[in-house]
Amino acid sequence: MDRKKLAAEKAAQYVKDGMLVGLGTGSTVFWTIKKLGELVKNGLDVRCVPTSKNTEILAKKVGIPLITISEVNELDLTIDGADEVNRNLDLIKGGGGALLREKMVASISDRLIIVVDESKSVLNLGRFPLPVEVVPFGFEITSKQLRALDCIPILRTEHNIPFITDNGNYILDCHFSIIQEPHELNRKLNMIPGVVENGLFIKMADIVVIGHINGNVKIFNNTK
Ligand code: 5RP
Repeated sequence: MDRKKLAAEKAAQYVKDGMLVGLGTGSTVFWTIKKLGELVKNGLDVRCVPTSKNTEILAKKVGIPLITISEVNELDLTIDGADEVNRNLDLIKGGGGALLREKMVASISDRLIIVVDESKSVLNLGRFPLPVEVVPFGFEITSKQLRALDCIPILRTEHNIPFITDNGNYILDCHFSIIQEPHELNRKLNMIPGVVENGLFIKMADIVVIGHINGNVKIFNNTK
């Protein structure tokens, strides 16, 4: 069975009747959303906040009742994917470009459950280029300031034009190779004018569900 699907469907078991749930973005949480759609058809009573336009479209298609983030103060849980997970359960996210909404939704969730396949599990964060969402105004200046943090920022493009996030911003994918102090970097990044948010999720994940090629699913809990 697909490793992503294994982890994603396992995580759907955390969703219970009456919950308010954040729905992440990407090809792994896709399977959670499909599963939740089936459960809703069979009577599960949930309301969900999507973290991207793509997730909103998918969730509507499978019949999941949606609300906006503005209608809630907090969520019971959020299920989302990640691009890298280290042993402290710190994450790099934003490969799909939805990091800002993902972080906002995660920040009001009682529990953040991350679903990944084993290829995302790393000793040190940073091999995956860190996505940083920046305002288009003067992004060249923002890029220079990011470069001063010892990375190579590359403007994300799609069909040879800048990729635009759901919030109308650009993404600079920052190549670090290795991130030694994720907490400190997270702080420094968000102090740069022009940076809207970055893809480091530090001490945010409560549970990480990892699907393995041999069909096993491992679950890690963060003690925080
Ligand atoms: C989107 C994300 C995704 O969760 C992350 O990129 C993982 O995606 P996938 O499950 O497709 O590998 O952060 O912004």
